[in-house]
Amino acid sequence: MKIAIINGPNLNLLGKREPGVYGSQSFEEYFETLKSLFPKVEFEYFQSNIEGEIVDAIQKTGFEYDGLIINPAAYTHTSIAIGDAIAAITTPVVEVHISNVHAREDFRKLSHVSAKAKGSIFGLGLKGYELAVRYLLA
Ligand code: DQA
Repeated sequence: MKIAIINGPNLNLLGKREPGVYGSQSFEEYFETLKSLFPKVEFEYFQSNIEGEIVDAIQKTGFEYDGLIINPAAYTHTSIAIGDAIAAITTPVVEVHISNVHAREDFRKLSHVSAKAKGSIFGLGLKGYELAVRYLLA
């Protein structure tokens, strides 16, 4: 079972960035926990602040991996290219947001990803990634 995780812009700053919203743990630290929870899963992790690199990563993993967990961060709300890339691939996609985007500013309520994903998880903190893995394994 191969699962790719793709994180978008500013998620490299988790732990330092607005801890009241996103928590105090870095993704790298959390990723170690995630891997230990699912020792049989082969994970690939990619983070970029650049929209085109995220599109490239979706295309690269999206026909080969068994599941893709994506948090496109701010590009969720703006990127037609990321939405199109998700529509183009065959790998099932779960959209994850750490914060509850529906309880925040109105511009965060629009997602170019949700309609193309199998489902979306938001507001459950980093635990959302674990829940997405459990869905993909089930
Ligand atoms: C986010 C929510 C987005 O609105 C925001 O731009 C992010 C992170 C989340 O995980 O809660 O950078 O995707």
